[in-house]
Amino acid sequence: MQLDHIDILYVHGVDPKVPVQEILRSLNDIVATGKVRYIAICNWPAWMVAKAQAIAKHNNWQRFIGLQYFYSAVTRDIETELVPMAADHNLSIFPWSPLAGGFLTGKYSREGSSEKGSRRADFDFPTIDKDKAFDLVDVMQDLAKNHNVSVAEIALAWVRHQKGVTSTIIGAKTLKQLHSNIKSTEIDLSKEDLNKIDAVSSKPDLYPGWMVERQSKYRK
Ligand SMILES: NC(=O)c1ccc[n+]([C@@H]2O[C@H](COP(=O)([O-])OP(=O)(O)OC[C@H]3O[C@@H](n4cnc5c(N)ncnc54)[C@H](OP(=O)(O)O)[C@@H]3O)[C@@H](O)[C@H]2O)c1
Repeated sequence: MQLDHIDILYVHGVDPKVPVQEILRSLNDIVATGKVRYIAICNWPAWMVAKAQAIAKHNNWQRFIGLQYFYSAVTRDIETELVPMAADHNLSIFPWSPLAGGFLTGKYSREGSSEKGSRRADFDFPTIDKDKAFDLVDVMQDLAKNHNVSVAEIALAWVRHQKGVTSTIIGAKTLKQLHSNIKSTEIDLSKEDLNKIDAVSSKPDLYPGWMVERQSKYRK
């Protein structure tokens, strides 16, 4: 890679064979060599990240500075546990697959057609609720018209407007896509725009979230 150091080293996922303590100790040693500046985490459940942060603090080791997770308007699962945890632990959120692997662009149709060579036609990842995604694309198509931008740009702007998101991990196959994705940083979505997207994308109220909200009301 011809680098003398890496800015952020991510742990890519859960390894059920290696204790969290061992992983953290190794990461701390790597940072001590100067080859890595900061460490971050992908795809761990929130309870494991919180446990890791406590172990690292207790041992005076390096702690994670951010979370790299699948986050797009069609898959808002991280809002249940990970987003509140990120706020509590002062962790940045770096969403991966912000276009849900290219789905939130308008290039796929309910009838099963897609633009020639589109990635999802051969590699249908990450898993999403397609009915919900088509409803979202319909709403985003209207917003794209109003803002005079593409659907992909609206989808990327949405991610950027979410709580805790400090940087988005974009994917681009062509220079044109890259320029378009960078241009999305200029879009300001209004409260009304965001409400329209929420109306077709909000996650269901899961327990214990709704109970926490209900009980917290008594403390106001
Ligand atoms: N930590 C993890 O577990 C994890 C997992 C997955 C990915 N990632 C990281 O996240 C990065 C982004 O993920 P992703 O590639 O899935 O992101 P994505 O933005 O959801 O999808 C990118 C794909 O969408 C299409 N696209 C991108 N910009 C477009 C535009 N402006 N207009 C129309 N189509 C557009 C392109 O494919 P087509 O043209 O073929 O449609 C492109 O390959 C990856 O490179 C990787 O570094 C991390």
